[in-house]
Amino acid sequence: MTPLHEVIMNKNTSINPVWIMRQAGRYLPEFREIRKDNPNFIELCLNSKLATEITLQPTKRFNLDAAIIFSDILMLPYGLGQRVEFKKNFGPLLGNLDVTTMSKIDEVDFVEKIYQVYKTIKFVSSEMNLKNKNTIGFVGAPWTLLVYMINQQSPKKNVKKDFFKDEYLINRILLIIEKFLKIHIKNQVDNGANVIQIFDSWAGLLEERDYPNYIYAPTLNLVEYVKSLNIPVICFPREIKNYKEFCEVVKPDAINIDYNVDPLIISKNIKIPIQGGLDPKILLTDKENLKKQALKYLDIFKDHPYIFNLGHGILPETNPEMVECLVNTVKDY
Ligand code: CP3
Repeated sequence: MTPLHEVIMNKNTSINPVWIMRQAGRYLPEFREIRKDNPNFIELCLNSKLATEITLQPTKRFNLDAAIIFSDILMLPYGLGQRVEFKKNFGPLLGNLDVTTMSKIDEVDFVEKIYQVYKTIKFVSSEMNLKNKNTIGFVGAPWTLLVYMINQQSPKKNVKKDFFKDEYLINRILLIIEKFLKIHIKNQVDNGANVIQIFDSWAGLLEERDYPNYIYAPTLNLVEYVKSLNIPVICFPREIKNYKEFCEVVKPDAINIDYNVDPLIISKNIKIPIQGGLDPKILLTDKENLKKQALKYLDIFKDHPYIFNLGHGILPETNPEMVECLVNTVKDY
């Protein structure tokens, strides 16, 4: 069994597998080298040869236990025919959402648009399987995808005032998103993804009274679907106010915590395997401090099934040497 599966499925507390959110990305000079010649991010995600190379880059440098596919949560709206661009120094920019056209898209159209992602997973998983390591597939949670699809840009910049005005429209889009997320997950699993992570990056935007409708119900539906495929599922409802309640309702196999969560309290409150937590900004300090902060998490979770990771994606300005130091600290523990 792989180390990640040992922790998630067997609740093994004697090992600490490690991988890093956004481990394939801009902090690596070898990524920037490829990116420089490939200005269109979506096209790069759909180039399975380069996407495989990028996915494997961090696994070649560091002793990581998993590869996460170089793709994006916004491949879903892209596959549904919505325009998706990534503007430099701005982030994602989506085209208008036309629900009538979108509701006519069928499974074949969708898979045809993004099947290169599945090819990447096939290549990557054949490499990772040889090393008894995992290949992590992922999706955005329905709520977070809804936010991008309606808002057309990061809600960090600006949230449309009339976001919730048309509840009928929102529910119609959510149903489409859920249907195609299942198709997307199934294709990832069929091609070798053996862990699925669900990113709900904008869970923290909602009021608690909206959690049942927009977070719990749609995520539970997906979690049950992944479980039916016999693949473990990790949820990351970033900045949600109550991780404990989320776990009780949605019942993922493991939960990723953000860096605002107190690890000591959560280690007592939550029984299921936990992943992540360390603030990515710690990697911008010095090695001594990094070791100290990483050991804090390792000590707190020493009797809890725990996968080491960060509390959010690694920052582009991170020095790869710090990642090396972090991975070694975890491995030497
Ligand atoms: O290494 C990995 O983690 C795998 C690949 C991965 C990417 N995006 C590649 C990427 C994963 C798992 C994601 C998830 C993702 N994408 C999320 C959920 C996690 C999170 O960060 O909250 C979200 C919200 C997105 C949407 C998205 N994609 C944004 C907001 C941005 C811009 C962010 C930025 O820092 O500029 C992206 C672009 C993106 N996705 C990059 C990468 C490597 C940077 C692309 C570049 O080179 O410009």
